[in-house]
Amino acid sequence: MSMITGAPGRAIGTPLDRIDGPQKVTGEAPYAYEHHVESPLYLYPLQSDIARGRITHIDASAAEALPGVVIVITHENAPRLADTSDKEYAVLQSEEVAFRGQFIGAVVAETFETARHAAHLVEISYDEEPHDAVLRADRDDLYVPEQVNAGFPTDTEEGDFEVAYASAAVKLDETYTTPMEHNNPMEPHTTVAVWREGDLTLYESTQGAHPVRRTVAQVFGLDQKRVNVVAPYVGGGFGSKGLPHANTILAALAAQMIEGRPIKFALTRQQMFSCVGYRTPTIQRIRLGADEEGHLTAISHDAIVQTAKIKEFAEQAAVATRMMYATESRRTTHRVAALDVAVPSWMRAPGEAPGMFALESAMDEMAIACGLDPIEFRIRNEPEIDAETGLPYSSRNLVACLREGARRFGWESRDSTPRARREGRWLVGSGVASSTYPVFRLPGSRARVRYEGEGRYAVEIGAADIGTGTWTTLTQIAADALGVGVGEIGLRIGDTTLPQASVEGGSTGITMWGSTIFEAARVFRERHGQNPSEGDEVEAGTPENPETENYAMHAFGAYFAEARVDADTAEVRIPRMTGVFAVGRIINAKTARSQFIGGMTMGLSMALHEESVVDPRFGHVVNHDFAEYHIPTNADVGEIEVSWIEEEDPHVNPMGSKGIGEIGIVGSSAAVANAVYHATGVRVRDLPITPDKLLPL
Ligand code: MOS
Repeated sequence: MSMITGAPGRAIGTPLDRIDGPQKVTGEAPYAYEHHVESPLYLYPLQSDIARGRITHIDASAAEALPGVVIVITHENAPRLADTSDKEYAVLQSEEVAFRGQFIGAVVAETFETARHAAHLVEISYDEEPHDAVLRADRDDLYVPEQVNAGFPTDTEEGDFEVAYASAAVKLDETYTTPMEHNNPMEPHTTVAVWREGDLTLYESTQGAHPVRRTVAQVFGLDQKRVNVVAPYVGGGFGSKGLPHANTILAALAAQMIEGRPIKFALTRQQMFSCVGYRTPTIQRIRLGADEEGHLTAISHDAIVQTAKIKEFAEQAAVATRMMYATESRRTTHRVAALDVAVPSWMRAPGEAPGMFALESAMDEMAIACGLDPIEFRIRNEPEIDAETGLPYSSRNLVACLREGARRFGWESRDSTPRARREGRWLVGSGVASSTYPVFRLPGSRARVRYEGEGRYAVEIGAADIGTGTWTTLTQIAADALGVGVGEIGLRIGDTTLPQASVEGGSTGITMWGSTIFEAARVFRERHGQNPSEGDEVEAGTPENPETENYAMHAFGAYFAEARVDADTAEVRIPRMTGVFAVGRIINAKTARSQFIGGMTMGLSMALHEESVVDPRFGHVVNHDFAEYHIPTNADVGEIEVSWIEEEDPHVNPMGSKGIGEIGIVGSSAAVANAVYHATGVRVRDLPITPDKLLPL
């Protein structure tokens, strides 16, 4: 713990080392599976082999006869759940099969190996029905959801798009597609469930202990006080652990049936491709119209996404287009296909990440059509206010990011002609794209401050650290909020015995938990002053922020990428990327840098690697492992240079910070695609950019 020092009131902004670093590198920090429990049993799930139909017969006799098997659980013997209104959580409640890979049972045994072996001995017969697992734009059953995710309206219209587009001097009408993608956090989804005397404890790999408690209590009909969720350390989530999934319910069900003995259930990597959510594929039509000077007059963005028949998840792919650029007329729509597939879910910047790939690719194409540099084209269309709400921005420094990025990247020397530069067998080009992410708010957090004597304060909130650095950044925030050094703060997070906290989602963690800690500290000082007595304690809830009525709040960024494409094989290399961000105040330069690099790496990955391939005949993801689902390794990632501009935003929250977990992936895929176009002259509008889509060069 090298840097637990520093002047009181000055912790925010310092590049403090992770305070949980030593525990992590010495293996002392327990992840969900590693919590010590007495004589655990191991669960291995049974998954459906069909994509739609009914189970007609189950023969578990061979599995049950295997020594070490404790129970085979199916819909025939599973207890009834109290609330089955959310079909993702209605685990083992009927013989119906709604998608391939759905949990239809489980074997619980004395060892993992026994459970896995026994699972393969269970014989299941089905009455199979035809299924439909493929998203297409020409489906006749696309529907209009009541709203899209995060509560945004489904469609919007300002001005008369058709009229403005018809009379535009320069026009673009293109369709961009992004594939189904799966989150692959290092730590698989894991639950250790213990049901004892009516109390349920879950050691859970989650982005929100309290939200898991709420859902599980609801599904099982338990008083929330009887459910405790423990998640002090989590090995990544990216959204896939933002909500509990069927695996959590299955583990709890097993624990309920075998009261007293803990149940351990960690998904295998392959199982993570069937039941813990994914990014929907998208089909996005963008139309842009501009006048002779390159001012946009018409923008439309029509997004088509998929959901599961059993639960609606309507990804908000077109929302960023509603505020990104100035125009006289604008239209955005979302249409959804309900398929015989698993339920889609959150994946880093759901909505913005696929949506801004489309918009920022289109902006590149339109700049070229207008004969303008793509940076100049964006600056020319910078809005003065937020068109969506009519409000001014609390801060909007996109132009500064573009200019600073251009300087750092060396944009000035760029020849705008595509395929103009060749170095040996490499075609070399560069691309730019903008980024944005909203400053969301989630209600309902509480924080407790207690004076523990000798200058030390306990600060408690059920917040999550999914690897992002929350242990460290909330310690810094608490130190400044109380006006003491970080060494005087004893932070406790990641447990439902602590005051409730909102989920680590929508890049809201620091905004919401930090604001709540600031409020608790303020009330503490108001009541107990600067010289409190040992044991003095205050708990406070998240304060309102009246400024949300007065300002539109968004973070911004700009990316630059250099692409080198092999002229013979179309192998794409990205030797360097530059990202410049305008995200308010940076709480911790070290952990922030990691978030930006991680996000940009995921954008690079989205551009070049990631694609979940569904076999339409069977309805499952074929490439369900790291051999075939490609994510970048070090060899795929070149230099990533990250910086930020000094941005003062007094309106967003007491820290002056904006969320940074997701913005790094938004638009970075487009910067790569735009660079590949500039290098080769080939525009790929269908991610990922694989060599087959570039050849022949
Ligand atoms: Mo993030 S995808 O909102 O957990």
